[in-house]
Amino acid sequence: MDKVIRWIDDRFPLTALWESQWGKYVAPKNFNFWYYFGSLAAFVLVIQIVTGIFLTMNYKPDAAKAFESVEYIMRDVQWGWLIRYMHSTGASMFFVVVYLHMFRALLYGSYRKPRELTWIIGCLIYLALMAEAFFGYLLPWGQMSYWGAQVIVNLFATVPVIGEDLALWIRGDYTISDITLNRFFAFHVIAIPLVLLGLVAAHLMALHETGSNNPDGVEIKKQPKDPKTGLPLDGIYSHPYYTIKDIVGVVVFLAVFSVIVFFMPEMGGYFLEYNNFIPADPLKTPEHIAPVWYFTPFYAMLRAVPSEILPFLPATQFYGVLVMGAAVVILFALPWLDRGDVKSIRYRGWRYKAWLAAFVVAFLVLGYLGVVPVTVWGQFGPGVPLVGGVDVATVVARVLTLVYFLFFLLMPWYTARDVTKPVPERVR
Ligand code: HEM
Repeated sequence: MDKVIRWIDDRFPLTALWESQWGKYVAPKNFNFWYYFGSLAAFVLVIQIVTGIFLTMNYKPDAAKAFESVEYIMRDVQWGWLIRYMHSTGASMFFVVVYLHMFRALLYGSYRKPRELTWIIGCLIYLALMAEAFFGYLLPWGQMSYWGAQVIVNLFATVPVIGEDLALWIRGDYTISDITLNRFFAFHVIAIPLVLLGLVAAHLMALHETGSNNPDGVEIKKQPKDPKTGLPLDGIYSHPYYTIKDIVGVVVFLAVFSVIVFFMPEMGGYFLEYNNFIPADPLKTPEHIAPVWYFTPFYAMLRAVPSEILPFLPATQFYGVLVMGAAVVILFALPWLDRGDVKSIRYRGWRYKAWLAAFVVAFLVLGYLGVVPVTVWGQFGPGVPLVGGVDVATVVARVLTLVYFLFFLLMPWYTARDVTKPVPERVR
């Protein structure tokens, strides 16, 4: 074996790559629960690619056959149901894992200097992931696939001047059609996965250049070296220590994943929406069109923004679209908005903690409001004499949208004023 590896090493930097990216990568020794989700995201990515390849072997990207081909996979292809449920569950679990992974960065200030690029590449991954999920959702050609895509593509039509042409260009037709299905298929199975893989590689290379942050926000690279090991005092090799830790994460994840795949693959309509078991019908709009749960916070913002804001401005849904877009784009600015003296929540003052809590509540409640039908929004208080006779849910969604943005926009101010605790020399 040694001989084979030496032979390869003389021709390709195999050992060097392994050692720089994992084997001899020195990581802080205090990683906790929140540090499981990076490797889990990579694990789910592999599940999605492998199950995706097998689905593609039996799926037909044709408006007349797509729905049927998915039913064929579910009923006739050997283990087809398992592959499909793994892929649909994997999609939702990808977002669960990535949201927790991003939240970790907010807890410990992982996006801050010197890891700004790791964060920015992460934001690009998040965008690519949303595109991947959106394109993939059209493929089963169910009612939700069809009408969901219709709604989202129509959002592009609200862009001033070029909107209509833009929507036409995206669809390749005047409505969502076989042509749209074909191009979404191309994006879903090859274009976006390639981008995702490239971005994930760049994400890890950037991280391994700066070194990982940790729950204390202590920069281990600045510590003196242990004379015995030559490593920073609080550093350990990723292998075998974090290899073992990550395997624990994967095992627990697989237990949860299996319970969902085998016992509750629809997850009460949240992972697989019930309307999507009905074939797409361009002549019948479903009563309630809602995106899958991971998009609903943004969808709630879209619905909350009125089309008429000021009397002298034209009435258009574009305002909502702008707000929704800004909600994602603002993430990129985070490293430059935070002016705190410390990175980790452990040493922050009450201001950051309070704002982070408000942000999380806003995101979750918006997520809930985005799931429920507009008719239900009305039931929260139809006719309740609030601002302009608007129902309670709309007012709540507007306030929470504001909280979401204020978390970012006021950050330079409240982080600079926060009274922080001193960060210790060593990790706790
Ligand atoms: C396919 C999706 C992704 C994969 C496979 C992935 C993978 C990883 C891995 C393996 C790590 C190191 C282990 C860890 O810190 O947990 C990491 C760290 C990190 N990731 Fe991701 N990531 C993904 C998406 C994202 C996204 C969407 C963001 C933010 C928008 C992000 C931001 C970060 C940051 C800031 C770190 C450094 C954390 C620290 O050192 O404290 N990642 N990522």
